[in-house]
Amino acid sequence: MATFKAFRVHTIDGKSVCRFEQLALEDLDPGPVVIQTAYSAITYKDAMAARGVGKNVRTDRPCVTGIDLAGVVVASADSRFTEGDRVIVTNYKLGADHDGGYADYARVPGDWIVPLPDGLTLYEAMGLGTSGLTAALTVDRLERAGLRPDMGTVAITGATGGVGTLAINIFAGRGYKVVAISGKRDQGEFLRSIGAHTVMSREEFLENRAPLAPSLFAGALDNVGGIYLDRLAAKMQPAGKLAVAGMAIGIEVKTTILPLVLRAIDILGINVSRQLHMDERKRLWGRLATDLKPSHLSRISRPIAFEDLDKAMDRFFDVTTIGRVVVEVGSRAPR
Ligand SMILES: NC(=O)c1ccc[n+]([C@@H]2O[C@H](COP(=O)([O-])OP(=O)(O)OC[C@H]3O[C@@H](n4cnc5c(N)ncnc54)[C@H](OP(=O)(O)O)[C@@H]3O)[C@@H](O)[C@H]2O)c1
Repeated sequence: MATFKAFRVHTIDGKSVCRFEQLALEDLDPGPVVIQTAYSAITYKDAMAARGVGKNVRTDRPCVTGIDLAGVVVASADSRFTEGDRVIVTNYKLGADHDGGYADYARVPGDWIVPLPDGLTLYEAMGLGTSGLTAALTVDRLERAGLRPDMGTVAITGATGGVGTLAINIFAGRGYKVVAISGKRDQGEFLRSIGAHTVMSREEFLENRAPLAPSLFAGALDNVGGIYLDRLAAKMQPAGKLAVAGMAIGIEVKTTILPLVLRAIDILGINVSRQLHMDERKRLWGRLATDLKPSHLSRISRPIAFEDLDKAMDRFFDVTTIGRVVVEVGSRAPR
């Protein structure tokens, strides 16, 4: 096999430097399954790794980043996989401490691989990726905790982000009235077009700072953290169910115990990292291909050419990215 193109992050004198390079298969972290990557995606975590923000990529040696990939197996020493299998890999150490999706090939452990379920193309799988898995786990957990559409509205913060957009579309498809909370005033029409019933500005949402505000929401998904989590808790209906997935503004939360106790709120932590068991991962991907498949995935995700990856990263920091960005890495597999 000739050399191929990869986007690697190096740490040089404490600073992140990322660039396209030509690599050979032996340059990649080893793994028994060799995948030809068709598509990857950009998440906030990938943008942080590329720009040296936070500590989510190894610094002792270069790393091909890209925490999500979908592609085709080209060789396997793991008997569970054979050449031609279409597969998805997200999370685990991919793109953080193991060479990831931003290269024409990846070598990974078989235990990280989800077979592409019937009902999804490789492109659609990356339109979903880690964000879709997070949205699916949220819907699944909230409904297992007892949430139903007839109980009231569902609020979603960070509404125009990857997780937010997919969660809006999935909840709406299941008959929920969704309140999308967003800082992007010009995206109201878009949010309604993917299923939001109501769009609320961040200012309006943050207006009432009382520990027990009027109870508005039967369910909620918080992608932002901080004051947003505090305000969601204060605005839940009695026995409301609040899923906590993100920390777009940081990890600290200052709140009161009042709504949690007086309104008996359930708080559910959402985590799709390696601690999400493979059986659960496969079950949720199966649901994403069937009853949780977003009806407006093509509106929520958009492709970019592999060559444009570097400049697309910056849009995550000026918060102009909407939905999911799918990276056309290798072969132009059918969408
Ligand atoms: N728990 C898990 O397993 C898991 C999995 C995936 C992601 N996550 C986390 O979930 C969060 C969302 O992920 P994502 O992929 O959707 O990220 P994303 O695409 O970057 O979207 C985050 C959204 O948060 C809002 N936001 C950003 N900065 C803000 C600020 N200063 N104040 C208020 N809102 C702000 C923006 O939405 P608006 O402009 O519409 O307000 C933005 O689009 C991230 O923290 C990510 O790390 C967790």
